[in-house]
Amino acid sequence: MDALFSRLFASEEQELFFLDCMAYFMVFMAGGTLVALLFENVPYGRYASSRYGFPVNAKLAWFIQEMPALFVPLFLVVGTSPAKTSKLPNQLLIGMYFCHYVHRSLIYPFLLRGGKSTPFASFILACVFCLYNGYMQIRYSSHYAEYPADWVTSPCFIAGSVLWLVGFLVNVHSDHILRNLRKPGETDYKIPIGGMFEYVSGANFLGEITEWAGFALASQSVQSSAFAIFTTVVLTSRAVAHHKWYHAKFEDYPKSRRALIPFLF
Ligand SMILES: NC(=O)c1ccc[n+]([C@@H]2O[C@H](COP(=O)([O-])OP(=O)(O)OC[C@H]3O[C@@H](n4cnc5c(N)ncnc54)[C@H](OP(=O)(O)O)[C@@H]3O)[C@@H](O)[C@H]2O)c1
Repeated sequence: MDALFSRLFASEEQELFFLDCMAYFMVFMAGGTLVALLFENVPYGRYASSRYGFPVNAKLAWFIQEMPALFVPLFLVVGTSPAKTSKLPNQLLIGMYFCHYVHRSLIYPFLLRGGKSTPFASFILACVFCLYNGYMQIRYSSHYAEYPADWVTSPCFIAGSVLWLVGFLVNVHSDHILRNLRKPGETDYKIPIGGMFEYVSGANFLGEITEWAGFALASQSVQSSAFAIFTTVVLTSRAVAHHKWYHAKFEDYPKSRRALIPFLF
């Protein structure tokens, strides 16, 4: 693998420049996505449409599309000589990333109940995003990110890590609540109750946004910030869309519940 990187990039400075360009491009794409999402919801789940290709089974789609986000980074850490993985801050940040994606790609897909099939185009876009982001986050954290020796005791790292953990727990707990709304074999929708759903319609999205915002705060890199921005754009739009959808579908939908931010939005 090291030989492959030496062939692809003339120097480490060149790869670092490439990783920065990838991050800025992700921010640019977040802007484009924001505009596109004003006109159409991301077409999967309740918004799936045959216009975006043939349907891929939900469990299979989630399992395969998230795989690159786990295995590309694993390969980068195990299959190359990463310069920075002996440093504690880098180890902890890489650990946070893997914790999320072990759950998302190896556990989450197999727990789904009655999830709608994913249109092929959405599935391919998700695969590409996971490959792109997996390389960008972990190549940067494992090979280039430099932190002072006492970074793990800095306020930014501590606050970011706590946010990451709280976000992760809210995300996993909220997805658990959604899954258990359906009895085996059911495919219809119900009003989510409990946990952060008492406050917002997009509790699982709030958790995931908090998670990656915390990761960005703890990492202080343009790569992690780009990922947090992209996630915020996509999931804020999805939370707002779900919120409107619930109000249109259920007359008794709780009036005090907000879309994404408790009491505010
Ligand atoms: N980082 C990122 O950019 C990103 C992007 C997308 C998703 N994600 C994460 O991936 C996870 C899943 O996202 P998603 O967009 O699929 O979430 P979602 O629309 O809330 O759906 C999650 C699962 O719960 C089911 N479900 C949702 N609401 C329900 C209800 N009211 N009654 C019964 N079942 C319900 C869905 O079934 P149906 O399939 O039948 O709707 C689906 O199986 C979330 O944790 C999210 O944060 C992250």
